[in-house]
Formats: sequence, C-alpha cells, structure tokens
Amino acid sequence: MQIGNHVLRNNLFVAPMAGVTDRPFRQLCKRLGAGVAVSEMVASNSLLWGSEKTRRRANHEGEVDPISVQIAGADPQMMGDAARFNVDHGAQIIDINMGCPAKKVCNTHAGSALLRDEVLVGRILEAVVQAVPVPVTLKFRTGWDKESRNALTITRIAEQSGIRLLSLHGRTRACGYSGHAEYDTIREVKRATHLPVVANGDICSPQDARHVLQYTGADGVMIGRAAQGRPWIFREIAHFLDTGEELPPPLVTEIHQVLVEHLHALYDFYGRDTGVRIARKHISWYTKGLANSASFRHMMNRLESCEQQLAAVDAFFLQVGQQALRLQYASEDSTSKDGASGEGASEDALAHAPARALAA
Ligand SMILES: Cc1cc2nc3c(=O)[nH]c(=O)nc-3n(C[C@H](O)[C@H](O)[C@H](O)COP(=O)(O)O)c2cc1C
Repeated sequence: MQIGNHVLRNNLFVAPMAGVTDRPFRQLCKRLGAGVAVSEMVASNSLLWGSEKTRRRANHEGEVDPISVQIAGADPQMMGDAARFNVDHGAQIIDINMGCPAKKVCNTHAGSALLRDEVLVGRILEAVVQAVPVPVTLKFRTGWDKESRNALTITRIAEQSGIRLLSLHGRTRACGYSGHAEYDTIREVKRATHLPVVANGDICSPQDARHVLQYTGADGVMIGRAAQGRPWIFREIAHFLDTGEELPPPLVTEIHQVLVEHLHALYDFYGRDTGVRIARKHISWYTKGLANSASFRHMMNRLESCEQQLAAVDAFFLQVGQQALRLQYASEDSTSKDGASGEGASEDALAHAPARALAA
C-alpha cells in the first residue's frame, strides 16, 4: 500500500485519538507492527499554535516515517495554513478530520459537523491540497445522521479535490460511539472510488480485521480503542493476515518491558509531573482484565512520582509473571467497566472505553 511516495510497511493504521496517539504511543505502535500512525488532531486556529499542547503535537523528533498529522478546523484558509505549518514541522502526510463528534469541535463547525456542508467540504479539501506538497488524506464518518448519510458524495468531492486516501469510520456523527460500526457504507465507498480506502470502527482482533477487509474490500484497516494498552495488536493482526494463524499471547516479561519503556518515553516527552499523570490511563489500559488489576489501578492512580509509578508497575508485573508466562486477560464482560479515560472524557465517556470492552 502506498500514500503518495510513501510505501507503507503494511495496511494497518493507528487511528488518530486525541489524548492517546501522542508521539510515544505512535512510535510504540509502529515498533509493534503498525504501518501508519496518525497524530492527534492539531487545531487549525493559528492562535493556538504557540500553546504547549500544539507545540508538543508538532514535535516529531525521532518518529519513524511516514509522519501523518491530522488537522481540524472549518476555515479553508486556516486549514491550508495549518497544513503548511505542520509540513514545515515535519509532517509528510496531512490528514483532515471530518469525523470527530465532540461538541467542542462540532460547535465550531469542524470535525464531523462539516459533513452537513458539502460545499465547504470541497473548499477545505482543495485549499489544503493546494497548500502543501505532501499527500492529503481524509478521515470521515458515514454522514451527520442516518437520514443524511452522504459518504458517497463526500468521496466524490474528495476525489475531485485531490485527496489521496480515505479512512472511513462506519458510524454517523449522531451514532457517536454507540451500537456497532456498520461496514456496508464502507463497502459502497470502496466500490465507488479509485482512492485507497481504510476501514475503521470496532475492529478489535485479527479476526475482525480479516472480516472487515474481506467484507468491505477496503485496502487497509484502522484501529483505535483496541490498541489502547495493547499496541502489539498490530503485529498480531499482521501475522494473522499473513499466515492465517494467531500469535500466542505475549510473554508477561515482554509486555512489562514494553510498558516500562512506554512510561520512560512519556516522562521524557511530557516532563515528569505531567508524564506521571498521562501514564496513568495507559497503565490502566495495559492492566485491565489482568488478575488483581483493579486494586492495583486504584492504588496506582494515587502515586505522584515516576519512581513510585515504575516501582508499582514492576511489582505488579512480577506478580503477574509468577502466575503465568503469558498475558491472560479475563473475559470481556469482566473488563467492560473501566475508570480509564482519555482526553475529553466528559464529551462521551464511551468514546474512551476500549472497543474490545464496548463490543462485549
Ligand atoms: C479517545 C479518542 C480520541 C479520538 N480522537 C480523534 C481525533 O483526534 N481525530 C479523529 O479523527 N478521530 C478521533 N477519534 C476517533 C477514532 O480515530 C476512531 O475513528 C474511532 O475510535 C473508531 O475506531 P475504533 O472503534 O477502532 O476505536 C478518537 C477516538 C477516541 C476513542
């Protein structure tokens, strides 16, 4: 699979997730098998560019190619400027967000709210494509609501505007994250376009990935919540798609090591104080469903220093390793309630529950 000149290692995409797909997480997912990892969205509002958050989101030091940055906004000129800004800071692919259902984004007519204004969609896509010399991709939902599903029209506009790849989440904006994603619209879009199509929504396992690829005919799959705390899902999917066989669950010692490296990367990236706080939700996701993890998470959320956090993680994984060689998660049902949340949890708590739990 290729986006512009970028030949991808495989067709497995990490979905952009605000508050989750920061540089440390993207690097980890790529190391563990993902072909592309799209950044958290960057607001096109130039007034925000000086903020620490935006500067951090534009930091790609050491990131493995291709570097894909998502931008969000509703003004064509500002979106073009934002695309240029990010290309100047290392973006090799610009992704446009027309899928975010969050009120704080839709109230500014950005994200999935744009799907209600097809003329504006065309103007934004053209402005961004013309603004930058790198490939521009579009991530969108199937429509604003079930009565106004317009994914096919948006696809046509995208083709005419010079978009190079589509990722489609099989839900409308009105669906939020409820119910199950549908793949019929993704299949229709794939049949109707020459553009590469990446299917997204509720893909939680290697078997899901194969089913969605076969059913929709899509060129790739994009995984969001199922990768939270399980960045190795990409190598599991890649192996299954290549061989038809499931990898055994990873060794406890390996994931202990992966998590410790992830924590150090977060402390380095955010600084120690913020890093410890950001790390909590990741630790929660890694350990959810493992034996005795509820009390561990409860205790861990009160620890304030890197040293305490690392020591607690070490102790927990040593204990897990004494019980089994490989990770063993409890059944989906017993994992469906989780205190972990990402950025914007107040918007829609369900959005932040791992998809594997939602599917239960
Ligand atoms: C915490 C969280 C943050 C998200 N942030 C973004 C975002 O910044 N941009 C975007 O296009 N989609 C965002 N999404 C939507 C995901 O990219 C993806 O489309 C959605 O979660 C469905 O895929 P999944 O079922 O594999 O999780 C977010 C989702 C979650 C759960």
